[in-house]
Amino acid sequence: MGAVILGTGSCLPQKELSNQDLEKLVETSDEWILSRTGISTRRISGKGEEAFQLGTSAAKKALAMANVMADDIDLIIVATMSSHMSMPSCACFVQKELGATKAFAYDVNAACSGFLFALDSGDKYLRVEKGKKILVIGTETLSSRTNWKDRNTCILFGDGAGAAVLEYQESEQGIVASSLFSDGTLWNLLYMHSAPSCNPDLEQAGNPGNYILMEGREVFKYAVKAMEAAINDLLLKEHVNIEAIDLMIPHQANIRILKKLVTRLGIKKEKVFINVHKYGNTSAGSIPIALDEANREGCLKRGDLLLVCSFGGGFTWGATLVRW
Ligand code: UT7
Repeated sequence: MGAVILGTGSCLPQKELSNQDLEKLVETSDEWILSRTGISTRRISGKGEEAFQLGTSAAKKALAMANVMADDIDLIIVATMSSHMSMPSCACFVQKELGATKAFAYDVNAACSGFLFALDSGDKYLRVEKGKKILVIGTETLSSRTNWKDRNTCILFGDGAGAAVLEYQESEQGIVASSLFSDGTLWNLLYMHSAPSCNPDLEQAGNPGNYILMEGREVFKYAVKAMEAAINDLLLKEHVNIEAIDLMIPHQANIRILKKLVTRLGIKKEKVFINVHKYGNTSAGSIPIALDEANREGCLKRGDLLLVCSFGGGFTWGATLVRW
């Protein structure tokens, strides 16, 4: 039917940063953060925990679960926007660390929707190149791109990585379909500068720093509407009723966004996997980390219909259906 997920893995940095720790950095409170976002704590990368290193650890766990050797992997796609280098790609560093010698490797940047976009590319690749095996990884160290003086953003994000090993199978299992969208006209509601794209000797514009900037309220509104629309588009296309969904794994950004989405969709809240309280918003890491936790906690059984959805900077958003 499509690309089947053979194994999942995740890796979170050691260091925890609680809301109480944040009270010492900016003018905020545990009560404000918890009530506005549902986040209690998040993980922050330290030495040896670059995006590629977290991604590699997650990939090793996914390979072990799938019982697949690294040198059997044909393609590695990494979703990230916080690699320690712009070039080579994070995926090439993962390929080196794993010793996945025959794999070709590249990155995808679709912000928080990166994993879903990468998963779709991987699924399409496997439908053509049947018999191959791939790794799809979402990994971020957004703490390195966070302005720790900006209370509007620094309370939201955390670091972490998740991975999945996939293979095409002629069975009832696998990725059913995706509905993915982007709207670049809304770029300035959530963005992060990279190194200046003009030579500073020629262009003297001030460098605003490489930090995340966000219009939180606007992002909130779009996130709910866009994820709802993507899910409805997908369910309509696939003739699936929301009651048929066994588990929903949404991008873990804010508990209030998720509650609103759940109410609008009319899905039972017991069917929605939540871990935002533990890790905050790990961007492209969020869905594969939650997928791995749900998988290891036994929330998914063979034949279940899984619905995944995401929203992020770009704007980018989408939804994917998977028959487990
Ligand atoms: O993957 C997508 C990534 N982005 C998101 O998911 C972000 C989506 N947006 C949100 O999650 C919410 O908009 C936030 C959590 C960022 C903010 O919550 P809000 O309910 O939209 O608050 P607000 O921005 O409307 O701010 C309300 C008040 C303001 O004070 P005044 O103007 O009412 O006096 C803020 O200055 O809360 C203040 N505030 C804070 N207070 C304590 C803003 N940040 C903080 C803070 N601690 N950290």
